[in-house]
Amino acid sequence: MQLSRKISTDTYYVGSSDRRLALFENIYPIERGVSYNSYIVLDEKTVLLDTVDHSVSRQFMENVKGVLNGRSLDYLIINHVEPDHCATIESIIKEYPEVKIVSNAKAIQFISQFYSFNALERAKVVKEGDVLNTGKHSFTFVLAPMVHWPEVMVTYDTFTKVLYSADAFGTFGALSGNLFADEVEFEKEWLDDARRYYINIVGKYGVQTQNLLKKASALDIAMIAPLHGPIWRENLSWFIDKYVTWSSYKAEDEGIVIVYSSIYGNTEQAMNYLALSLADKGVKNIHMYDASKTDQSILLSECFRYSKAVFASSTYNLEIFPKMEGLLLDLKAHLYQNKKIGLVECGTWALQSGKKMSELLSSMKNIEICLGRSVSILSSAKEETLAELDKLAEELTK
Ligand code: FEO
Repeated sequence: MQLSRKISTDTYYVGSSDRRLALFENIYPIERGVSYNSYIVLDEKTVLLDTVDHSVSRQFMENVKGVLNGRSLDYLIINHVEPDHCATIESIIKEYPEVKIVSNAKAIQFISQFYSFNALERAKVVKEGDVLNTGKHSFTFVLAPMVHWPEVMVTYDTFTKVLYSADAFGTFGALSGNLFADEVEFEKEWLDDARRYYINIVGKYGVQTQNLLKKASALDIAMIAPLHGPIWRENLSWFIDKYVTWSSYKAEDEGIVIVYSSIYGNTEQAMNYLALSLADKGVKNIHMYDASKTDQSILLSECFRYSKAVFASSTYNLEIFPKMEGLLLDLKAHLYQNKKIGLVECGTWALQSGKKMSELLSSMKNIEICLGRSVSILSSAKEETLAELDKLAEELTK
C-alpha cells in the first residue's frame, strides 16, 4: 500500500517511520521512534531526494512506485550517505536501472565504500552552486560539510522554495500522519527531542552549522524538509533561531542542571540540600538528574540547554564515578563551553573525583568553576559541608 502525502507543488513525502527501533545509531534511546524522510518531485524529469533506512525499505519502495505511478526515475539526489538515509539505494537502482545519482564527489566516494555497484558510472557529480533543471523545477546544491558528515549537502528547489536540509533541522520522533511542524504541538511534544538530536548528533559541529545557516539565510525558503521529523512551512524563524542558539554554544534557558553520581545516596542527599539552598536564594529552573538513571544523551542535552551546571561525583577506584566520567568526556567531545560550573566530590578516603572533574572541565572552553575548586564531602554531608554547599549555592546565583 502506498503511504505518501503531497507536501508542495509536484512534491510528495515518500519516507516512513520506525517505532520498533530501541536505539538510534545503536546508542540513543528513541521511545518516540524516528522517521526517515524522503521526497519525490514529479517534473518533466522525476527526482527522488534521498532514500531511507533498511528498516522501512518495503514501505518506502511501495511509496516510490506508487507516486511515480509507472514513470521511470531519472534522478536520485543524495544529500547524505549515512546508512539511515542510503541503505535503500541499491533497491532503487534495481527498480530503476537508468537512474542517475546526483551528488558531490565526496558522497560518490562514500557510496562506493558502502555499496558494491559502480557509483561513479551512474553519477552526476555536482559542486557548490551547481543547478539541476528538471523542467519547472531547478535544484541548487549547497555543500554543508560536517553538518553531520563531510559529504553532506543540502538542496534548494527554486520553484517550490523547499530547502531539503539533510540532518539539519531534524529530530527524533516518528511521524503520525501530521508531517508538518504546524500540525503538531512542536514546542511541547517535540522540542526536547529536537534539541537532544541536534546536541548529540551535530552538536560538535557548531561552526559548520553556523556556516550552513549563513548560506541558507541567502535563500528565500518557504519550507524546510529535513531527513528526520516534521517539515517546516510556518514559523521557520523560530526553529532557525533555536539552531542559531545551539550552534553558537549559548545557553537556551537560564537555569541550573545538577547531575550527580551517588553510590549509597549520600551525594544525592547533599545535592538535594544544594538544590533547596539554591531555591531559597531565589534560583528557579533547577533540574536534578542521577547520572546512573538518566540516559547520557538526555544529560548532554540538558547540560547544553541551561546556563549553569553542578556535577557531583563519588570517587570510585580513585577515579570519577564511571557514569559521571562518561558524561564529562561526552561533554568535552561535543565542545561543551561557556558555562558556570559547581563541582562536588564525595568519598570516604582518598578523594579524587573533584580534582579529576576539575581537570576535565578546565580543558573545555570558557568554563568558570565556582570557588575555583570542588566542595568535598567525607562520606556524608555534615554541618561544615553544608556551609560549603551554601557558599557554592551563593556563587552559583551570581
Ligand atoms: Fe540521519 Fe547523519 O544521518
